[in-house]
Amino acid sequence: MRKKMIAVLFGGCSDEYDVSLQSASSIIENIDSEKYRIIMVGITRQGEWKRYDGGIREIQNDSWMNHASCVPAIISPDRKTRGILVFEGGRIEIVRIDVAFPVLHGRNGEDGRVQGLLEMAGISYIGSGMLSSAMCMDKDIAHRLVSNAGIKTPSSMIIDTELSDEELEKRVLKFKYPLFIKPSNGGSSIGITRVSDRCELKDAVYDALRYDRKVIIEEGVDGFEVGCAILGNGSPMIGEVDEIELSQGFFDNIEKYTLKSSRIHVPARIDTDTTGRIKETAVKIYRILGCKGYARVDMFLTKGGEIVFNEVNTIPGFTSHSRYPNMLKGIGMTFPQIVDELIRSATQE
Ligand SMILES: Nc1ncnc2c1ncn2[C@@H]1O[C@H](COP(=O)(O)OP(=O)(O)O)[C@@H](O)[C@H]1O
Ligand SMILES: [Mg+2]
Repeated sequence: MRKKMIAVLFGGCSDEYDVSLQSASSIIENIDSEKYRIIMVGITRQGEWKRYDGGIREIQNDSWMNHASCVPAIISPDRKTRGILVFEGGRIEIVRIDVAFPVLHGRNGEDGRVQGLLEMAGISYIGSGMLSSAMCMDKDIAHRLVSNAGIKTPSSMIIDTELSDEELEKRVLKFKYPLFIKPSNGGSSIGITRVSDRCELKDAVYDALRYDRKVIIEEGVDGFEVGCAILGNGSPMIGEVDEIELSQGFFDNIEKYTLKSSRIHVPARIDTDTTGRIKETAVKIYRILGCKGYARVDMFLTKGGEIVFNEVNTIPGFTSHSRYPNMLKGIGMTFPQIVDELIRSATQE
């Protein structure tokens, strides 16, 4: 039987480029080479596309683009090609693709843009479609849709026009501190500030505006964050629920990748009834937002046992020690099995 050709897209013109390198390294290492062939396509921070044929280490240490194998390569939007055009030695080689695996986090990768390109190209791919990816990436849009379906979301407001400092202060008067100020489109906690006092507000908004023209101001939810890993379509698999235990501040960019003062518990230290409610809510959210393939649904659990939606990550962190695979390991799946199941989910429409 012919081996299926999997295109792994990594890097990306995104603030989360570095995280992608780590996720992609783990995934490439765990794709079953008996069943699949891999073509690796790296996208630099500046947005250049290159076919890469070197080792994992160069991806991990971000030197891949200097490897001798790198040549320009792009996905052809022409549906007859159904693949990648590789520009090598003055010739154009066509590499046909069975499944694309965008292992790209954040902008230009997780937000529907690459998914739209793959749809144009007629290439099957792993994960949510263009619209669903875009809706999940925009925290404001995701909150509106989920809230419409009767699931609780944090009280929030949007800033997408210039405001005087006085006007800004006036508008947030109705909220209780702490507030979370975020770029509406973002990830890895980049550009997010926890504001506990009125005087920190303005700087936090300016900081978030550096990353997105739309800023969301949310009332802090008094509780802790829980996540739920979902894999598949129709009746998807649901991993163990995990819990983030913070000892200070919030799950910011440094804390996420160092876990210096926080801990992740899989399974979460909650009763079975609550676990069941969280899983049920996560699947409901997954469906409301039209997710496909896989996603990590993040929620807060309040002291009163209420579930409040936070966000959906349609391409969650995917290193071998990341939350998403760990939650599925909790129900007995190995990392290679998760990767295999994802590839399968993209080929069965
Ligand atoms: N409304 C909120 N209440 C309490 N904590 C929050 C709230 N919003 C965000 N946080 C904290 O900030 C972190 C990052 O926010 P999140 O919306 O998940 O953005 P990102 O997409 O960058 O992960 C969360 O993991 C949580 O620790
Ligand atoms: Mg988050």
